[in-house]
Amino acid sequence: MLRFNVGLALVFLVFPFLIAAQNSTECSNPAPNDCDFYTECLETRYDCGPDGYPLAYGYHFCTKFQNSTADLSSAGQLWMTNTMLCLQRALVPEATGAPGAAATCSALETKAFGTHADCYVQSGLCTLPISDWDAIVFEIIGPGTLVDSLDALEATASAGFQCVEFAEVIVHGILHLRRFSLGEVIVEVAILVSHSILDSVMKRVGSNGIW
Ligand SMILES: *[C@@H]1O[C@H](CO)[C@@H](O)[C@H](O)[C@H]1NC(C)=O
Ligand SMILES: *[C@@H]1O[C@H](CO)[C@@H](O)[C@H](O)[C@H]1NC(C)=O
Repeated sequence: MLRFNVGLALVFLVFPFLIAAQNSTECSNPAPNDCDFYTECLETRYDCGPDGYPLAYGYHFCTKFQNSTADLSSAGQLWMTNTMLCLQRALVPEATGAPGAAATCSALETKAFGTHADCYVQSGLCTLPISDWDAIVFEIIGPGTLVDSLDALEATASAGFQCVEFAEVIVHGILHLRRFSLGEVIVEVAILVSHSILDSVMKRVGSNGIW
């Protein structure tokens, strides 16, 4: 009984420190070129399972990026490091349980996909050599993944709208696969076009853009 109480006391004493330590480092300030954020900060909190965003998408592609540095130019490698960090930083509120964080796995996924295009473009996607685009789209991410869900397609196409030459690579990938009906693609593109028109109008008016 005494041993049990001591054990219990230890758990209560040590546990808050463990949580605080995790919260203050890895989860609130993700490290570059590190993928543990997805397993240690998001999956532990959201428990979305093997098909959820943290493991099936975030961790999977983070490690795949890490495995693929040899396929990229030095500019491509820098892009990859900055993109991985940008994607993780965007989910720090979720990783730390901050107010306003996505409440469900599905909300987490929607938010995460919503950050992809901006992270890709802000990290310098548009200025990478074509050889890097090919490697990123066809070898690392895989063209099937880009059109695997409408969310992923929208994120990628949205990056495409911000750099036209990259869009051509994507469109080739989509036409090659034809996993979506033409109707679905047209609807998505229409949504994206209206978003980007609205966005440029908003920017002209001086407000923040939505993409
Ligand atoms: C990355 O490489 C490691 C070690 O070779 C391997 O276990 C892992 O499956 C690879 N990850 C991906 C997503 O390909
Ligand atoms: C983690 O940090 C966030 C904000 O950075 C805070 O709101 C939350 O309460 C913290 N969680 C724990 C368990 O300390």
